Parts: sequence; C-alpha cells; structure tokens
Amino acid sequence: KMMVMLLCALAMAASSVHAQDGDKIRIAFDVPYEPFEFRTPDGELTGFEVDLARAVCEELKADCEFVVQAWDGIIPGLQARKYDAIMSSMSITEDRAKVVLFSEPYYNTPSAWFAPEDSTIDSVDKEALKDKVIGVQRGTTQDAYVSDNFGSVADIKRYTTSDDLVLDMEGQRLDLVFLDYPVGEETLLKKDGYKTVGEEVKLGEGMGVAFRKRDKDLAERFNKALEKLKNDGTYDEIMKKYFDY
Ligand code: ARG
Repeated sequence: KMMVMLLCALAMAASSVHAQDGDKIRIAFDVPYEPFEFRTPDGELTGFEVDLARAVCEELKADCEFVVQAWDGIIPGLQARKYDAIMSSMSITEDRAKVVLFSEPYYNTPSAWFAPEDSTIDSVDKEALKDKVIGVQRGTTQDAYVSDNFGSVADIKRYTTSDDLVLDMEGQRLDLVFLDYPVGEETLLKKDGYKTVGEEVKLGEGMGVAFRKRDKDLAERFNKALEKLKNDGTYDEIMKKYFDY
C-alpha cells in the first residue's frame, strides 16, 4: 500500500511538472513552404500557418515559441519533445495518425503536377512518365504517392526542402514536380514559364496540427480555438491574405 501511495505521489509530481512546461507551447514549421510558412526578406517567419498559429496562441492566451525544423525529422522531433505541435501543412493520413494525434483539419488542398510551359507531357500515367525526372519533397505524401505509382518507370528526385526542389525545376533538371497545389502556384505558376499538367490528386484528409498522442488536452484546446477563429472571421481574413482563390 505504501508503494502504491509513493507511486501516486511520484506520478502527481511528474504531471505537475508537465503542466508547468505546458504553459509554453512550442510549434514547429518547416520553412520555406510558401504560402504556408516562409520568411520575409528580413527573415521574419510569416505565412498562412504562421498567422494562424499566432491567432490560436492569442486565443489560448498561451506563450508560444516557433521552432524551425526540417521536414524529414519533424515527427521524431515532436516525439523527442523538441516542440509540442507541428503546424507545417501536414496532411492527415492513416499512417501518421498511428504515431501522432491530429487536430481537426484546418485546410484542404489537392496535390498537383507542375511542368515547364513548353513541356510535351500532357497526361500523367506510367506511359507518359517513363524515364521522366520527377521532383518531390522527401517524406511527404507526394513522395509516397509518386514512389508507389511511378517508382518503377520514372526517376524520382527527393529534396530535403521545397526551395531546393523549385531551384532544380528552374535549373531545368526536372521534367515535373508534384506539390501541394498552393505551393506550386506560389513558387512556379506566379513566375510564368510553368503550367499544371494532368489531374489534381487528393492525398490525405486535409491538413491538421500534429501533437503527441498523449497530449489530448492540448489538441482539444487547439480544436476549440480553431473553431472560434473560423466562426469569428479571423480564419477567413488570414486565408484571404495568403490564397487568391
Ligand atoms: N502536405 C504534404 C504532406 O503532408 C507536404 C507537407 C510539407 N510541408 C512542409 N512544410 N514542408 O506530406
């Protein structure tokens, strides 16, 4: 009985420490991923999710800290407690939901194929993509989709960051890139010289904030705040600032 009491006391002490450091919410972003998260010319973090995160934190009256984290280590970093939430255009998928807890979706977009304007690729199938060089960001839903469907015929180049991917497209080292639509629109279509090819593809069930599985309370607080921001017009205002459709 003593032992049980001792264990309870220890557990309580541990959880109160946990509540303490829960006062500060650290949120991770992989930048750049324009227009979701990127830097202004003076190096300040900005973008749809950065503004949305700021609004959520204000709503929660929480002290938030933004952490920049490369995409390929972004889930391990969450598990390792380097931060408490990921707000990085992460698509809600069954596989990821096995290891993280997702908020309700706060954005939804298909993925799309982008090619140089003079590209002769006019459809997306195994025949058309044979020996073509396709760029994706490593570890994304786009990477998984292209690997599964065209891995046997195409040459897939995987990039750590979306800007390296775009640079290689501009350097004409890629025939196609496969990206969340708004990112391709922002980084390629807006520059001229690029077009979309084939059909859009829906991957995942929208984008959500990812938390550690056990942080159910934090996820609930985010869900409530997001709902409030949707109802009071803040969400739409932030949307309008970053998306033109
Ligand atoms: N939506 C895609 C996924 O979940 C790509 C997200 C990449 N995000 C980023 N900030 N780099 O895999």
